Formats: sequence, structure tokens, C-alpha cells
Amino acid sequence: MFPSLLILLSAGIALASSLEFGIPASQATVTVQAFHVGQVTLVNLTHAFILPALPGRETVQFPMFAFLVEHQGSQSRMMFDLGMRKDPLNLAPSISSGFAAGMFQLQETNDITEQLEDGGIKLETIETVIWSHSHFDHIGDMSKFPNSTNLVIGPGTVTSTFPQNPNASLQASDFAGRHITELDFTSSKLTFSGLQAIDFFEDGSFYLLNTPGHVSGHISALARVTPTTFVSLGGDTFHHAGEARPRPAFQQSFPCPAHLAEEIKSSFDTDFFWSPKSTDGAFDIHSRASQMFEVSDLPDSFYEFPVTAQVSLEKLATFDADPDIFVVVAHDASLQSTLPLFPASLNNWKEANLKESTVWTFANTSNPAFAFSPM
Ligand SMILES: *[C@@H]1O[C@H](CO)[C@@H](O)[C@H](O)[C@H]1NC(C)=O
Ligand SMILES: *[C@@H]1O[C@H](CO)[C@@H](O)[C@H](O)[C@H]1NC(C)=O
Ligand SMILES: *[C@@H]1O[C@H](CO)[C@@H](O)[C@H](O)[C@H]1NC(C)=O
Ligand SMILES: *[C@@H]1O[C@H](CO)[C@@H](O)[C@H](O)[C@H]1NC(C)=O
Ligand SMILES: [Zn+2]
Repeated sequence: MFPSLLILLSAGIALASSLEFGIPASQATVTVQAFHVGQVTLVNLTHAFILPALPGRETVQFPMFAFLVEHQGSQSRMMFDLGMRKDPLNLAPSISSGFAAGMFQLQETNDITEQLEDGGIKLETIETVIWSHSHFDHIGDMSKFPNSTNLVIGPGTVTSTFPQNPNASLQASDFAGRHITELDFTSSKLTFSGLQAIDFFEDGSFYLLNTPGHVSGHISALARVTPTTFVSLGGDTFHHAGEARPRPAFQQSFPCPAHLAEEIKSSFDTDFFWSPKSTDGAFDIHSRASQMFEVSDLPDSFYEFPVTAQVSLEKLATFDADPDIFVVVAHDASLQSTLPLFPASLNNWKEANLKESTVWTFANTSNPAFAFSPM
């Protein structure tokens, strides 16, 4: 009696994520492979993403990840985000002017279409490109894809283009000759942790999630990589791991490693960050009951609707606390040197302990995401 009860209990815990969030059971899976498309530097713009932006850390540099998703049943291929094109001066003038002025800078460019082709993935085999949203650092250069590649965009994406609209950030070549589908979540009956979902292949292998707030039409994805484990592609729902962590549920599932907690005592500046058990000059991470950074709500915030963005982030953060879901956002600098890249796949992240070994690295002084003391 007792042993079988224990088995039932542990099985219940193992299945908790899918059931708790209302994700239907399924055996259907996709393969997810990540690409690093380049680094973008935004001069004196940290405050447009996260608050507080500490003295000496006003300039932000982050990677741009793109993802190849392959359906295991049909071998159908798609891309979730493309990173940015390698020729920024050919973007619409409203964006290229930022590059010309040096406010935006591009480094380590590795164009996604070239990486795919060099990796033996013919562009003709990419049935669909999904943009998490229409910002330049996600849309790549659609003109390099054949007309047969469809484009999927989120609800309410602003589709006006340059030159008809001189201020547009998109241009005609982003859409020309292509079948475009704008998602509609209103008829969806699926909701995971408050996020409206669309079952893309109608077999439970890949869901698109409505995560509004960063800009109109912002979406995320939830990919089933084994029957019980998932990769959530969060787009720009958040930019820095410290906007998601450490919330209380996350602290329970992923307690801060002892040696890191010890380093944090002196590396996190108590003039900027507080927790109940901190003392002046010694920051206690274990008792921190909220994420380290807030979504920026300053007038020049890159979150167009900061309150809505914060709510989408709260919902996605429930996935981040779950041991069966690995959340990867497009610009997570803490994953810069640890995210396995194509041709490796992310599917075995759980066996490989990838989540345990990376979720706290943003707090390590030697990690590029570290931003918790003035420079
Ligand atoms: C950085 O941005 C802030 C806020 O927009 C502004 O007040 C400050 O003058 C800028 N600093 C530099 C060096 O441009
Ligand atoms: C473009 O932006 C400028 C400056 O913000 C503004 O004055 C102008 O009205 C805008 N034009 C259009 C067509 O939206
Ligand atoms: C693909 O689209 C472009 C841009 O609209 C068009 O010029 C071209 O004729 C199309 N090619 C085919 C094969 O349909
Ligand atoms: C920080 O990261 C470096 C490089 O991965 C590692 O050697 C070091 O042990 C880490 N420090 C802490 C306190 O975890
Ligand atoms: Zn972005």
C-alpha cells in the first residue's frame, strides 16, 4: 500500500507541469535547434529594457538567438525568429539611422540564412517563418527566403511599411510575394497558466502563445521536445534573466547554489537591491521574494505597453519555475556561451541538466549578464 502510494505521488509530481498548466498530454514532439545570429549593442539604453540600470552599466549588449523547429511526424520545418540581417544600413530608415548614428551596433554577425544553408538546411525546406514580433532584431531578411516560405505574425502586428509610411520599421521586402497569416487567439480554447495558446500542428507538439506587451503582436512558443518536457521560446517577453528570477516558486524549484549565494553577498550592491535578510553591504539572495529587475516603464522604454508586458512575463515566469520547461528568450546574455547551438538540439536539455546549470549564471560576476553592482 505505502510503496504504491509513493509511486503514485511521485508520478503525480512528475506530471505536475503539463496537468497544472492545462497542457494536454501528447506523444507528438518537435526538435528545437538554436542559432546565434550576432550581438547587438544598444548604447546608453539599458534603462529602456530593465530597471534599475546601474551606473557604468548603461550600455547593453546582447546575443540574438533564432530557432529551427522540426515537426517529428511530418518533418515539416519552420523558424521561430531570425535574428537580424547582416546589413543594418538596408533596414528601413527609422532603424538604419540608429545604426548609422552608432546608437545601435552589430557585432559577430552570422546571418541565419547562411548558417542554415551551410548546415545543409535548404531554405526551400523551411515551410514557415514565425516572427515573435516585428522588430528588426527578429525579422532577419525575408527576401532571402523563397516565396514558398509562409510568414506567421502575431495578432495586431503593425504591418505598414516604408516608403508608404516614412516612419515604418518594416519595408515592402519584408512581405513581398509571400503568404502571411496573422494569428487570432480569440477562438482558442486553450489557456496555459493564463496564456492563450494555439496548437500549431493540432497534435500537441507545438503551441503558439499570446504574450502581448513588448510591442503589438508579440507572441511566444511552447515546444514539446519529449512527451513530458518542453522548451518555451519566449521572444522578448523579457530580455534579462533577472527580470524573471528569482520569484518565490523559482527559488523553491531552483535554489541558488551555495557558493554563488556566498559570492552574491558582496557582489550585489545593497544600495540598489534589497531582501529581508540582507544587511548593509551583505545581500541575502535566499530571502529575495521577487525578480531582480523590473520591465522598464520609462518614456523611452522598449516595452511599448509595460504593464501588459509585466503581466505576460508573470505568466511565462510560472513556466520558468517548472522543472519540466526550459524557457529561452531571444536575447538571454546569460546563455551566450552555454546554449547548445545547431547542429546540436535542445531536446535533451533535461537529461543534460542544462536548466540547473544555467538558470543562476546571470548572477555570477564573470557572466556577461551580470549587472548588479556599479562598474
Ligand atoms: C544616457 O541616457 C540618459 C537617459 O535618457 C540621459 O539622461 C543621459 O544624458 C545619457 N547619457 C549619455 C552619455 O548620452
Ligand atoms: C513620423 O514621425 C515624425 C516624428 O516623430 C512625425 O512628426 C510624423 O508625423 C510622422 N509621420 C507619420 C506619417 O506618421
Ligand atoms: C516571388 O515574389 C517576388 C516579390 O513579390 C516576385 O517578384 C516573384 O515573381 C515571385 N516569384 C515567384 C516564382 O512567384
Ligand atoms: C562563475 O562562473 C565561472 C565560469 O563559469 C566559474 O568558474 C565560477 O565558479 C562561477 N562562480 C560562482 C561563484 O559560481
Ligand atoms: Zn528583440
